[in-house]
Amino acid sequence: MRKELFLPVLLGTNRNGRNSENVARWVLKKIEERDDIETQFFDARDFKLLEDDYGQTIKDLFPEYRDAITRADGLVIVAPEYNHSFPGQLKSILDLLLKEYTHKAVGLVGVSAGPWGGTRVIESLVPVVRELGLVVTHADLNFSIVQNTFNEDGTMKEEFVGPFDERVNKFLEELVWIARALRYGRENS
Ligand SMILES: Cc1cc2nc3c(=O)[nH]c(=O)nc-3n(C[C@H](O)[C@H](O)[C@H](O)COP(=O)(O)O)c2cc1C
Repeated sequence: MRKELFLPVLLGTNRNGRNSENVARWVLKKIEERDDIETQFFDARDFKLLEDDYGQTIKDLFPEYRDAITRADGLVIVAPEYNHSFPGQLKSILDLLLKEYTHKAVGLVGVSAGPWGGTRVIESLVPVVRELGLVVTHADLNFSIVQNTFNEDGTMKEEFVGPFDERVNKFLEELVWIARALRYGRENS
């Protein structure tokens, strides 16, 4: 069903045993529950990147991602923190496109094993998304000590549901605001 805004979700790691998959699927579900956002899930695992080339010259090898970002009003990136930064796989996926991102919104979700909720991966992603022409929101979503946040079956532990529902709503409200404003700008200027 077509909704007002189209905001795909990109899970930025292909690591075996990744905890950020639980986060990405939870955020995806929260977006799907809304009346105003259509979404599509992209998993770093599904990008079979080349060993000998990068960037826009190989974008047509990934038509689903290319076409989704071309149509999108923005993007949600779920980024695990690896040594205070982002996985190389995520950077390579983002680098596939350039003008397709321009003047679109991006919301950043940081995931870490430590207590800082991926704040450092988020800060390290800001200059990257800026160079791509994406406009980053100030309302991030942070998952600290993520290994203790979800049950074995991937559902969120009961005690976290209330606080995270509140946080994801704020995060998405801000993302929708920026995505709407940018869409108006793209269509009218
Ligand atoms: C190479 C590597 C580096 C990591 N560096 C950090 C770090 O700097 N800070 C932190 O809190 N957790 C760090 N972690 C733990 C991850 O943040 C943790 O595994 C978390 O669940 C998100 O990553 P995941 O989706 O791959 O599980 C690191 C994990 C890996 C694999």
